[in-house]
Amino acid sequence: MLNFNYYNPTRIRFGKDTIAEIDSLVPSDAKVMILFGGSSARKTGTLDEVKQSLGNRFIVEFDGIEPNPTYETLMKAVAQVREQNIDFLLAVGGGSVIDGTKFVAAAAVFDGEPWDILMGAKVTQAMPFGSVLTLPATGSEMNNASVVTRKSLQAKLPFRNDLVYPQFSILDPTKTFTLPERQVANGVVDAFVHITEQYLTYPVNAAVQDRFAEGLLQTLIELGPKVLVQPEDYDIRANLMWVATMALNGTIGVGVPHDWATHMIGHELTALYDIDHARTLAIVLPALLQCTKEAKREKLLQYADRVWHISTGTDDERIDAAIAKTKAFFEAMGIATHLSAYDLDASHVETVIKQLELHGMVALGEHGNIDSAMSRDILTLAL
Ligand code: NZQ
Ligand code: ZN
Repeated sequence: MLNFNYYNPTRIRFGKDTIAEIDSLVPSDAKVMILFGGSSARKTGTLDEVKQSLGNRFIVEFDGIEPNPTYETLMKAVAQVREQNIDFLLAVGGGSVIDGTKFVAAAAVFDGEPWDILMGAKVTQAMPFGSVLTLPATGSEMNNASVVTRKSLQAKLPFRNDLVYPQFSILDPTKTFTLPERQVANGVVDAFVHITEQYLTYPVNAAVQDRFAEGLLQTLIELGPKVLVQPEDYDIRANLMWVATMALNGTIGVGVPHDWATHMIGHELTALYDIDHARTLAIVLPALLQCTKEAKREKLLQYADRVWHISTGTDDERIDAAIAKTKAFFEAMGIATHLSAYDLDASHVETVIKQLELHGMVALGEHGNIDSAMSRDILTLAL
């Protein structure tokens, strides 16, 4: 196992009717900005519930954080936070709202041009914030990562900092009943790929992390298709919600190598062609696994055996069968695994490669050997 330093300060309140507990989690004299997305928080009544639990505290609402939150919109929130001396942020939504809130938390007190945060500038302070999660997928509710898009540059870039862990996150599975099927499926696939990014690399004898990762993957494989036919089942929703959090809260990622190439290539596809985050991952991952088969051989065989229970055939046949099962799982969730499903062809592949190069994404993967040529091979295989 590799050395590691594990820190996760986010308090989780999980279960039915937990929004009421916000009152005990936010300072009683806080000046709060509630940040949310387009319309779902208002329509579903979650926003009202949150406001009720905040009681008489000073509240400002900031709505309109879009899926794949933009720097342009978030900077408007930053201006309001500064003007109104807001001292606590509360995100109500999915990964986009929580990621956006993390950026606002850092940007509002940043000395300099906040876009530099996405360009690697050091964040030394951030405002306190909490979240109410309404879409299980990204793990943002219990991690220190955020991904922000600058529309004018078609750039979608991540930043991480320990100061942007939420102080608390409320996870009430009943709040996910209103999700459209597309977002439910996206959440399952996003969580699945978060796990493979930390598991399908090379072995370092991290037995606990491996078994955790395999258990989480199997839970998604079992419950993903079920939630589509039993959307009202509380237990399925609850388990999917906790899987998505566990997939990216550090637990399975400590002491092991990480890949993240699927995500970095996927971010370019979202920034350029507005394909949902999870859908880009379903396109890239199977092709990436084919192209990196040699480097990932041992873990792919372990994946085939322990996750898919494939026990016959040569090593290569078992690996190919595991990749085929992965693809079939995504397709069964209603998510396409080819660029052609989005009318993209070889000419678009070149555009993606240019953007990867522009963003310095030319040494990706656990070995840093996914360069432009290999990314081109991956995307070409994904056509
Ligand atoms: O905008 P509203 O009207 O609220 O609708 C949202 C949005 O359109 C809707 N929604 C959310 N909760 C709902 C609901 N609709 C009905 N009922 C509810 N309970 O769902 C739509 C998608 O929401 P979004 O937040 O964009 O989805 P998701 O949670 O998948 O977040 C995706 C973003 O997270 C980033 C992605 O890149 C992308 O920008 N990621 C963040 C990560 C992190 N912080 O660690 C890791 C991930 O890999 C990912 O990159
Ligand atoms: Zn993701």
